[in-house]
Amino acid sequence: MPQKLEIAPNKGKLGIMLVGLGAVSTTFVTGLYMIRKDLAKPIGCQAWMGTARLGKRTDNRFVKLNELLPLAMPQDIELAAWDIFPDNAYEAAKAAAVLKDADLEKVKDELVALKPLPGAFDVNYVKRLNGTHVKTGTRREMAEALRADIREFRKKVDRVVVVWAASTEVYADPGPAHQSIDAFEKALDANDPSIAPSQLYAYAALMEKAGYANGAPNLTVDIPAMVELSHRMKTPISGKDFKTGQTLMKTIIAPGLANRLLGVKGWFSTNILGNRDGEVLDDPGSFKSKEVSKAGVLPPIFNEKVYPELFSDIYHKVRINYYPPRGDEKEGWDNIDIFGWLGYPMQIKVDFLCRDSILAAPIVADLAVFTDLAARAGFYGVQEWLSFFYKTPQTATGLYPEHDLFIQKVKFKNTLRWMAGEDLITHLGLDYYGEGVPKKS
Ligand SMILES: NC(=O)c1ccc[n+]([C@@H]2O[C@H](COP(=O)([O-])OP(=O)(O)OC[C@H]3O[C@@H](n4cnc5c(N)ncnc54)[C@H](O)[C@@H]3O)[C@@H](O)[C@H]2O)c1
Repeated sequence: MPQKLEIAPNKGKLGIMLVGLGAVSTTFVTGLYMIRKDLAKPIGCQAWMGTARLGKRTDNRFVKLNELLPLAMPQDIELAAWDIFPDNAYEAAKAAAVLKDADLEKVKDELVALKPLPGAFDVNYVKRLNGTHVKTGTRREMAEALRADIREFRKKVDRVVVVWAASTEVYADPGPAHQSIDAFEKALDANDPSIAPSQLYAYAALMEKAGYANGAPNLTVDIPAMVELSHRMKTPISGKDFKTGQTLMKTIIAPGLANRLLGVKGWFSTNILGNRDGEVLDDPGSFKSKEVSKAGVLPPIFNEKVYPELFSDIYHKVRINYYPPRGDEKEGWDNIDIFGWLGYPMQIKVDFLCRDSILAAPIVADLAVFTDLAARAGFYGVQEWLSFFYKTPQTATGLYPEHDLFIQKVKFKNTLRWMAGEDLITHLGLDYYGEGVPKKS
């Protein structure tokens, strides 16, 4: 029998600090409050709905993930948030217009009570927003103020996880300030503009031993300085960019095509969306961050080194168009040009009338709950087993990320089985076929 990992119990409260109280966060928060009142089910949430098969298929053992491992459940959670606008969660949810007023009214008191702390902000990183509810001072001062916020919140809870669900920052490559924690701290003291606000939150979280999950495509914990700090503080990190919408569809469809050895000539994806996220992504700098994150999904699935005859020169184009009338109800179109036996061409068209924040909200819950589990189980550094939830999974240096949703799922559930001391499931299944399977000498 494999050994069970020692995991600290789920006692007291898990504090989730949300960076950004916009469409995704308020959709998550409203859902959490409704679930607690038994007004809704946690649809799409692994932690609160998911199961795992254990043992052999003949055992017929399926358990809820929270029976397998000590996971924080909805009633165990306390919330806090930062935003650069002062709207409480009720006002912010109304403005985001994702959920029906009738649903917001059911938990209005709780939503009104969730007021954001002032955010750490620099308009050069999100050009379309003019934050009014912001921390002042140098980067070092803002980082210290964020640390103080976390310490204050920790007085009310047993442990803290920080999830970034704030606007996408402009694209940036890592610079000298990001190469080590030493360099990063010197740059903080020098108020170096190459340190992004999101990196201030990550630094503050890790310094306070709060796990950090990055739901947006910006450069944050995927820099050597933060990886080093996460090891030094023995705290888990993961990223990046919640896997929702069109990219979720891509990582569902592409592995199927690749596994059937169908060739791909091109994949054109375009979207219209009209929420604040869409407005921010209308800025070329923020769009570049998103474009890189979305475009990186296909090459590891369609591996042209392994199958040059199928996947060389795939033309992959991704467009995001800000179109206000559509609000949060995005529409994503994909045209996929594929070919099969004898090179005969075929096409696939996808029209996904999707609700991005509805898909992202359960991921916020999962990332918070599993980051907390990781911390209690003694994991620190990059948590690649959470790649199931991300568009651009962060890995150990030198590893390419697994983008295939089904491989990610096996990795995720096997990690949970491994923690719980259960056999890993390889799907080999030869042991069901007795004498019909040759013996190895
Ligand atoms: N909606 C999805 O399905 C989805 C999927 C993947 C990733 N994301 C990413 O998640 C993030 C949130 O998406 P959303 O639709 O909720 O966007 P949103 O615009 O509705 O909300 C973002 C919030 O972050 C706040 N903010 C901006 N900079 C901040 C800072 N420095 N500190 C604190 N708050 C700050 C904004 O004021 C806003 O309220 C975006 O980066 C988006 O790209 C969203």
